[in-house]
Amino acid sequence: MSSVHVCLNNPLSPSRTLRRSFSLHRETPSLLGIGNGRRTLHAIACLNVEVEATDSNAGKPGLLKSKEVMETEARVLVGTYARAPVVLASGKGCKLYDVEGREYLDMSAGIAVNALGHGDEDWLKAVVEQATTLTHVSNMYYSLPQVELAKRLVASSFADRVFFSNSGTEANEAAIKFSRKFQRYTHPDAKEPATEFISFTNSFHGRTMGALALTSKEHYRSPFEPVMPGVTFLEYGNIQVTKELIQQGRTAAVFVEPIQGEGGIYSATKEFLQFLRSACDDAGTLLVFDEVIIC
Ligand SMILES: Cc1ncc(COP(=O)(O)O)c(C=O)c1O
Repeated sequence: MSSVHVCLNNPLSPSRTLRRSFSLHRETPSLLGIGNGRRTLHAIACLNVEVEATDSNAGKPGLLKSKEVMETEARVLVGTYARAPVVLASGKGCKLYDVEGREYLDMSAGIAVNALGHGDEDWLKAVVEQATTLTHVSNMYYSLPQVELAKRLVASSFADRVFFSNSGTEANEAAIKFSRKFQRYTHPDAKEPATEFISFTNSFHGRTMGALALTSKEHYRSPFEPVMPGVTFLEYGNIQVTKELIQQGRTAAVFVEPIQGEGGIYSATKEFLQFLRSACDDAGTLLVFDEVIIC
């Protein structure tokens, strides 16, 4: 078993960079260097895999299959993600198999999403049952699964009600809108209710225009500017500067990741989070915990 560790260096660099890193345009005998024994690769995606492969894989004609898929993808898909050069074909439990039949241990799943393994029988049964019963209905109607799921989430969390969205970035878009609407609703006579936002250094909140505006790293935002105005980035954990800005009363909401994921694994202190809670309560500001990638 060779160990291939693909590190998270820069998840949003164009995929071309990755192709260069792995020299994918050349006829490499093995895209992961498996044929060359133990190696650590630094790539631009999060995939921690244990690769079950023998040197006999190197140079096999089948390896071209991966290459073909990657080249075809480059022609027909917009290259917004820098992928590790692995073409996955199937999975069972925590094992994954690529198109050449090599086996991997899946240690990242959907990056903190859908970490249920592959082909789980209970999950499969539930999906088939639901698809057979009622496949997809629009939001124009009520449907039982939505209500059942919301009931369970409310019963097992702090929340009174649930808003379903398709992605983390949409959850943040909704939170942006809820915050502004909340400020208008709670200050009906105010000429200029609070519309601004506080976000923190090293934060990541998503790729749609509002969530992007709350994301601190310049290189995520700059290609798409102007993004939503009115966001101030403060030092993560800095109580004093945050207090001063919240007290000015222009902040509709403070967005914070209790544990920052995309920007590195940085945990807010309990003291900082407790301070945010009470400062926001005092000022009538909403506090949004973005825990999209925390499981
Ligand atoms: C803290 C945080 N917020 C929001 C998002 C965006 O989620 P999505 O990719 O589902 O839009 C992510 C994704 O990595 C995240 O880590």
